[in-house]
Parts: sequence; C-alpha cells; structure tokens
Amino acid sequence: MTDPTGPVVTSEAPITAADPVPTPLAPPPDILRCAYMELVVTDLAASRGFYVDVLGLVVTEEDEDAVYLRSLEEFIHHNLVLRKGPVAAVAAFSYRVRSPEELDRAVAFYTELGCRVERRADGFTRGIGDSVRVTDPLGFPYEFFYDVDHVERLAWRYDLHTPGALVRLDHFNQVTPDVPRAVKFMEDLGFRVTEDIQDGEGTTYAAWMRRKPTVHDTAMTGGDGPRMHHVAFATHEKHNIIAICDKLGALRLSDHIERGPGRHGVSNAFYLYLRDPDGHRVEIYTQDYYTGDPDNPVVTWDVHDNQRRDWWGNPVVPSWYTEASLVLDLDGNPQRVVARTDTSEMAVTIGADGFSYTRPEDDADVLPSWKQGEYKLGHQL
Ligand SMILES: [Fe+2]
Repeated sequence: MTDPTGPVVTSEAPITAADPVPTPLAPPPDILRCAYMELVVTDLAASRGFYVDVLGLVVTEEDEDAVYLRSLEEFIHHNLVLRKGPVAAVAAFSYRVRSPEELDRAVAFYTELGCRVERRADGFTRGIGDSVRVTDPLGFPYEFFYDVDHVERLAWRYDLHTPGALVRLDHFNQVTPDVPRAVKFMEDLGFRVTEDIQDGEGTTYAAWMRRKPTVHDTAMTGGDGPRMHHVAFATHEKHNIIAICDKLGALRLSDHIERGPGRHGVSNAFYLYLRDPDGHRVEIYTQDYYTGDPDNPVVTWDVHDNQRRDWWGNPVVPSWYTEASLVLDLDGNPQRVVARTDTSEMAVTIGADGFSYTRPEDDADVLPSWKQGEYKLGHQL
C-alpha cells in the first residue's frame, strides 16, 4: 500500500510519429497562450443561462447572434464566444501571439503546409483586430491574434465574485485519431509536451502540451476526430469547485455534471467536467503546477494505471471517452470525423482484457470485483 511507484519521468516526450506532417521551413508564430474558444450553440438563451447565470462568466458584449464572455481575471475582450448556429460545434480554437508581426509568420507557416488560411484586418469577432484563421493539418480551426480590446480586469471586484468564480481560461482539449502525428505537428508549432499516457506496446493515448508555463494550453486525446473534447476554465481553489457542484444541485441542474469532482493523476489538478445545454464539455480546473523551465521533465503514465485520470482511482464514465463536439471548417461546415485506428483508451482500461492496476506489480484481478471494469454504476451521467 506504500509503494510509491508511479509514472515515468524523462527529459523529452518518448513519442515518435510514424506518419508525420512535414516540418515547414517557415518558423512558427510565437504563441503566448490559449485565449478564447468560439462555440456555436443552438439555443443562445439557454447557453447564456448556463455560462452566465450558473457559471458566472462575465458578459463583455452581446447582441442577437452572439455573447462575448470573459473570466474574472481576464483583461482581453473575451475568453469564450457563444454564437448562435444550426449545429453545435467549435468554430475556433484561438491563441494570442506575442506581437502583430507573428501573424505574418502564421500565414507563412500554414501556407507552406498547404492549409487554407484567411486573414482579416478587422478580425473575425468583436473586440479583436487583425487575425488569422486556418484549418490546420489535423483538421482543427485555429486562430491567431495579437490586437485586442482591453477591458476591466475584475480580479479585485470581489463584490462580483461568486463561490465558484471562474478566473482564467486554462486550456483546450482536442480529439484526434493519431496522437503521435498531432504531437509532432504541435511541437513544430512551438508546443512542448508536459505529460502523456502510453502503453507497453508504444501506443500513445493522449498528450498534454503547453506554451504558457502550466501543464497545458491544449491536450491531444486519442479518438475519432477532429473533435473538441473540452474547454477548461480555472478557479482558485478546490472548494470553489465544490461550490459549483452545490449550486448545480441546489438549482436541480446536477445532470450537467458528467464526471468528478476529483483529483487528476495527469496534471495533478483538481477537476470537474460539466456538459452545457448543447453537450459541449466544460472542465473546471485548479492547482496544476509550473512547467516554464526549458528542461521541465516529461511525465509518462501507463494507460493501465487506474490513478492516471483520477488520482483516487475513481472510474471514468464511458461518455467522457466517446463523446465530443464537432469542429467547423472556415466556411462553417462540420469537419468530417475520421476514426481512430490505434487501440482506444476506453477499450484497454474497461472490460475483461485490461483491468487497471493500482500498483504496477499487481495481477490484473487484484482489484476488488466491485472496482473492476471502471464502470460507474448504472452508466449514469
Ligand atoms: Fe482538461
């Protein structure tokens, strides 16, 4: 019970792409951080109710077609755009770059890759100026910008804070069929792996990648894709996440809770996964660790370690593995979803062929029968 054996720590991510995207000769744009996501929602009023009235995000601006929201410590115009549309999907994963000149680099980088690239001097959304949108080689709609309206940072406005106050956008999570290919491409874009999940046969199931000095700005999760797994907002402390659960219960909205609250193995963060009125997944996240040194160690988890996704060994609900949001091309049409061909994480950690372990030397059946299989009772959400 006291065996401290856990994930393996190395200096570089032990991930090799068999089918890599060619590395462009053009240098990548210097990305600062994930900045906002543009979500297409089918019922704008219902989504506004969820993100504003329940989760407490702040409305910077709104009109009949869109709501522009920010977290309480943000000083740029928005961290989330809710835009009314016919199909629930993601229109943009948007990143802020270090200077206006970086947009020229983004154009050159993606043009060399043969990607579709659009640049608008007046931006694609309110509050943001010169911007570049691309469909990247993995099929995701990415945006880059520097020019943005500054708004009041509400960090000191405690009169506006709720017990579950969301203070920053923390990260995106993307579903893609070939994780090593995605990791190699994102490394070319300037990202660095902080943690990953693999098995003994060399299959990579997921990888976490950063620009800002946290565990990630985005993660690549193996599955049918391109799809969006979740968007995550940070709150200050664990008790803030408990307060969100209590509020959802009090409002009889507990069916929005999909998984958690809990402590992650990967990232060490405390977490909660919610589903919005369209089924878009939102994570509430707090207290991961600093990763900003260039030699920050990479942490590799065994896919059979039942503490990798929940440090307390709690099961992962099947919907968390299988469901995700569509993403759009630059014309607003849903991208075709390509099936993953590598083994799925759910398949190797659920069921008779792959009981998870608590201690690596344990036999497959050492977990008590009621812990085997990693199913939540009744498969309830
Ligand atoms: Fe996450």
